[in-house]
Amino acid sequence: MDDGRTAVSDGSVEVPPYHSAVMPEPCTFSPREWEVLSGFWYPVAWSADVSDRPVGVTLLDEDLVVYRTSGGVVVARDLCLHRGSRLTLGWIEGDELICCYHGWRYSVDGRCTRIPSQPADRKISPRVRLLTFPVLERYGIVWTCLSAEPKNELPKWPEAEDPRFRRLGLPAQEWATSAARQVENFLDVSHFSFVHTGTFGNPDRTEIADVDVELTPYGLRYEFPYLAGNPASSPLGSQPNIMRVMNYDLTLPFCARLAIRYPEKGGDATHIIFDCASPVSAKRMRVFFFIARNFDPHTPSEELMAWESKILSEDQPVVQSQRPEELPIDLAEELHVQADRMTIAYRKELAKLGLGPAYSR
Ligand code: FES
Ligand SMILES: [Fe+2]
Repeated sequence: MDDGRTAVSDGSVEVPPYHSAVMPEPCTFSPREWEVLSGFWYPVAWSADVSDRPVGVTLLDEDLVVYRTSGGVVVARDLCLHRGSRLTLGWIEGDELICCYHGWRYSVDGRCTRIPSQPADRKISPRVRLLTFPVLERYGIVWTCLSAEPKNELPKWPEAEDPRFRRLGLPAQEWATSAARQVENFLDVSHFSFVHTGTFGNPDRTEIADVDVELTPYGLRYEFPYLAGNPASSPLGSQPNIMRVMNYDLTLPFCARLAIRYPEKGGDATHIIFDCASPVSAKRMRVFFFIARNFDPHTPSEELMAWESKILSEDQPVVQSQRPEELPIDLAEELHVQADRMTIAYRKELAKLGLGPAYSR
């Protein structure tokens, strides 16, 4: 496709509001995987971290520049059309992004509005235009899609915007694994009694009862009751165990919501964890992790997030050790037992999206 750099016509041309990226070079995904994955929305930054200073992120091997203007957040390919320098080295002036190298200026829709080495009245073709991508801001997150026509919607998470719930997030973390491995770990319940014995894991509850996995129009969901451990460091008091009724709700491909009810805390006491994975490459991902909670308003936020951080830090080294880093979609490639039915269902749903055996090259 036209990447803007070949444009020389100065005629008036119709330009679409956004572009679709082409697979970058080099790319760690196969062409088929990249084609499938590039059609979805992904988180790329916390809204609070996006200002009028351009920041760089990588999504599906594509380097992007993200910045805020008075008209909203812009996400564009991090590449100046003139000599290919990084736009993240530039700055914003009057809502325009200025390249640090020769000062070309780009407006919010990516069009080049000024080339300082030319007379100001020299016309610039409207086709000299950065690749800009669809952007949404929701749940305190900036989301983008590398396709001009996203094939999914953002997850529907009412509690994330409900003032009755306290919302707390962690800084985005980069993990040396694929987005799918990280999300599968979030969906996996039979590791609790091994990996999480320092937090909520109960070493005496290793057996996993049958769980019904329900397919939804956007993913899958299931409920898993777990008599959890509850050490003194837990923000839930000091009884040795506490029942967690855990409701998982996945939005394909990489966004999960886990609502945990604690019957002992009273009827609607709910702690919700949101795990949004952003695929940096086939072997690296960033997780945007936040919680929403409607009880124990006096428990300090720092205490709650220290607890969540500790749980994540128990998972991270194990998940990063998995090989291959990519999730094997072909079920023949790893061994499965009954307790894996949720993660088997996840792999099958990823296969239905079009991710194939190549995902486990
Ligand atoms: S490389 Fe950006 S203005 Fe020259
Ligand atoms: Fe875990």
